[in-house]
Amino acid sequence: MNAKAAEPKSPAEERSLDPEDWEELRQLGHRAFDDMVDYLKSVADRPAWQPLPGAAKKLFEQDLPRQGIGLGEVYEQIRDHVLPYPTGNIHPRFWSWVGGTGTPAQLIADLVASAMNSASLGFDEVASSYVELQLLNWLKSLLGYAADSSGLLVSGGSMANLVGLAVARTHAAPYDVRDQGINTSDYPRLIYYMSSEGHSSLRKAIELLGLGSASLRIVPVKDDFTIDVDALRTAIRDDRQAGRLPACIIATAGTVNTGAIDPLNELADIAEQENLWMHADAAFGGFAKLSAKSAHLVDGLERADSLAFDLHKWLYVQYDCGCVLIKSSDTHRNTFSVIPSYLRKFDRGLASGPLNFSEYGVQLSRSFRALRAWTALKTEGTDRYGQQIEQNIQQAKYLTQLVEDRVGLELLAPTAMNIVNFHYVDESLSNAEQDDLNAEILMQLQERGIAAPSSTVLNGRFSIRVAICNHRSKRSDFEALVEAVTAIGKDIRAS
Ligand SMILES: Cc1ncc(COP(=O)(O)O)c(C=O)c1O
Repeated sequence: MNAKAAEPKSPAEERSLDPEDWEELRQLGHRAFDDMVDYLKSVADRPAWQPLPGAAKKLFEQDLPRQGIGLGEVYEQIRDHVLPYPTGNIHPRFWSWVGGTGTPAQLIADLVASAMNSASLGFDEVASSYVELQLLNWLKSLLGYAADSSGLLVSGGSMANLVGLAVARTHAAPYDVRDQGINTSDYPRLIYYMSSEGHSSLRKAIELLGLGSASLRIVPVKDDFTIDVDALRTAIRDDRQAGRLPACIIATAGTVNTGAIDPLNELADIAEQENLWMHADAAFGGFAKLSAKSAHLVDGLERADSLAFDLHKWLYVQYDCGCVLIKSSDTHRNTFSVIPSYLRKFDRGLASGPLNFSEYGVQLSRSFRALRAWTALKTEGTDRYGQQIEQNIQQAKYLTQLVEDRVGLELLAPTAMNIVNFHYVDESLSNAEQDDLNAEILMQLQERGIAAPSSTVLNGRFSIRVAICNHRSKRSDFEALVEAVTAIGKDIRAS
C-alpha cells in the first residue's frame, strides 16, 4: 500500500482495536465468565467426549472474513460450535494419553495474563519474569534440584526433552557442536540410550538435533516395562569397543504406555561410572514426588543432569506448560545463548530484568504461562496437590483390583503408578479377533460418551489404556468403566 494513502488525514481518524463501548465488553465478559463457570460445574453431566457435528465443521470451513461480525456474534459462535467439543480431559471419565484436567482457579490467571499480554522475555523488568523465576525455584525445590540449577518453562514435555538432549549434546561432544554441527567425519558418533518404552518425542529430538536416529540406541525392557540395565551396560560397552562415543542415558520416570519407572538410581550410577549425561523424561511421573506416600517411586530423579516434565499433566495446570531443569546452568546457557545488540540487557529501564530466557531455550517471545501454575500452587498449596496425586495412584490400584476381580477382564501390564492396561477376554476368539473386539469396545466407550480411555499395544496385544491424571475422577467412575467394558463386550459378542 502507498504510505501516503495509508496516512490518516486527521488525528480524529486514528483508530485502535479497543472496543468503542467498553461497557459492552464488560457485560459480555461477565456473561462469558458465568458461562465458563456453569460449563465447568456441570462437566460431569455431559458426555466424556463427543464428535463435532456437521454444523460446527461447516463453520470452520468458512472463508476468511473481510468484514468483522462483532464480538457478540463471535462469542455466540464460540459458545455454540467450539465450547461443546473439547478433548474431554476436563471430564471425570477422561483417561486418554496423559491428559491433565486443569483447575477453575486458573481461569482467572488466564484472564489476567491475556490482559497483560507480556512478552515474558525474562530480561524485561516486568512481573512475568519474576513469577516464572519463582515458579522455577519452587519446582527445583519440589524435585530436589539445587537453587543454582537452571530452568525454563516450555510448551510441553516434547520441547523439554529437546532442550535437555540439546544440552547433553553440548556437554558430550568433544568439539564445538554449535560451530561445526554434528561431525561424524572427524569424531566418533555420539550415542544416546533409552528403553524401547521411551517416548516418541525423544527420537524426534535426536533427529532434530542432527544426531540422526542412528545415534539412538534402543535398549530392551524387562517384563515390567523398565529398562533392562544389563542390556544397557552391554550396549555401552559394545559402542565403546566399536569406536563410538556413549553420550547420554535417557531414563523414563513414568513411561507413556504403562507408567513404568526405570531404576533411576541404578541409571544414575551407570551414568557416573561411565561419565555420561543423564536425562530424565519425567513428563508426568516426576510429580509422584509430591505425595508423601509415593515419592519413593521416583527416588533418584534428582540425580539426573537434565529433567523434563509437564505441569499440564499431573500438576493439573491448563495447557500448555512444560518445564526443563538443568543442573549445570553454564552448559545450559552455552547451548542456546545468542545475544544480538537489540536484545541487550541494561542495568536500568525496561530491559533490566533478571535474565534472558532466550539464552536457555528456543523461543524468544513467550506467553505468560507461568501465571497459571503459580496461581494454582498458591491457591491449593503443595500438600493438597500431593494428596490429589496420591488419590490418582490409589484409584489406579482400585481399578487394577476391579479388573483382577472381574471374570472376563485381564490386566496387560503391572500397574506401576497411575496407568492401568487391560482387555476384555473371550477365549473362543483368536488373539487378533480379541484385539479387534477390544478396539470396538473402546470406540463404543468413546462414541457413546461413557468414558475416554485410549489404547496401546503391549507385547503385541491391543490394550485399553487408562491414564489417571484427573482430579475429578471418583472410584465410582472406574466402577462404571469396568461395568461398561463388560457389558459392551458381551453385547458385541451376542449381536
Ligand atoms: C513420558 C512422556 N514423555 C513426553 C511426552 C510428551 O509431552 P507433551 O505432549 O507435553 O509434549 C509425553 C506425553 O504424553 C509422555 O508421556
